[in-house]
Amino acid sequence: MKHFINLKDIPAKDLRKILISAKSRKKRRNNLSNLEIDKDSPLKGKLLIQMFEKSSLRTRLSFYLAIKQLGGSTLTLRPDELHLSKGGESIEDTAKILSNFGNIFMLRTNSDKKLEEFKKYLSIPIINGLSPSAHPTQVLSDVFTVEEIKKKPISKLNIVWIGDCNNVLNSLITASIKFSFKLNIGCPKNYNPNKEMLEYIKINKNKILIFNDAKKAAKDADVIFSDKVISMNDKVNKLKKLNHFKKFKINDNLMRYAKKDCIFLHCLPRGKEVDEKIFLSKKSKVWQQAINRIHVQKSILLYSLDKLR
Ligand code: CP
Ligand code: NVA
Repeated sequence: MKHFINLKDIPAKDLRKILISAKSRKKRRNNLSNLEIDKDSPLKGKLLIQMFEKSSLRTRLSFYLAIKQLGGSTLTLRPDELHLSKGGESIEDTAKILSNFGNIFMLRTNSDKKLEEFKKYLSIPIINGLSPSAHPTQVLSDVFTVEEIKKKPISKLNIVWIGDCNNVLNSLITASIKFSFKLNIGCPKNYNPNKEMLEYIKINKNKILIFNDAKKAAKDADVIFSDKVISMNDKVNKLKKLNHFKKFKINDNLMRYAKKDCIFLHCLPRGKEVDEKIFLSKKSKVWQQAINRIHVQKSILLYSLDKLR
């Protein structure tokens, strides 16, 4: 079995294998409707247990459909209904029960430490469905979407992030190292990536550049990514932060610095970091991006359960 907690821990060749499998599975489904099961039904009899300590729409729905399409089933736990959240049961005992009842566990959490604690006691794989430091399933799926739309390996494209240096960007930085693509980051001066990520960026300093000017970052972009300025775990003065990001809005003016066929991606939900006109334009591929979560997560489930062919 293999855990899927951070892209950093997963060999590049395995990440590529996951994308190849997702592409061929997506193609093979043709016009099957969402609840129809893939012919080979590779996860028949398997149970995915998922738990969300924070809100989720896309991750919840896409994991639900992913395991269904693979022939398995899912159960979503509410943390407020577990003894664990009230201090009445340890992570160790909870993990042992999860391991005896289910086959794989997906957790969206407020604490990176909790993922590690669960990992220690689980005898089934754990998938990180978003934590304060990373959103690996999202970003792996985003690499898939970029290559699907651009019909090129991502290593041949200029990828740009305009916005907050958050969990999604951390995973994008990791992906840029794993998949060897150029990444420009555009963010305000006092909002650069954290120390740990800066260290990580150093390894690849020719490919990852940080600009405190959105226009410079956006120059010649093939893809511009953004995300909410205020994330779920952000404990900041929101108005002040939003104000600092005023010049980092994705609008027509900024898109002019990118290539003509540049696309816009956003993991969603959105805030005010993107102009309505761009968000609803043909350049915006956010709905395709969201649906692809199903396809890539299917292959992540297979990978974690050692069933990737
Ligand atoms: N992009 C994403 O993870 O969406 P949800 O928070 O709705 O799951
Ligand atoms: N950065 C955002 C992503 C939401 C999918 C957050 O953590 O809230």
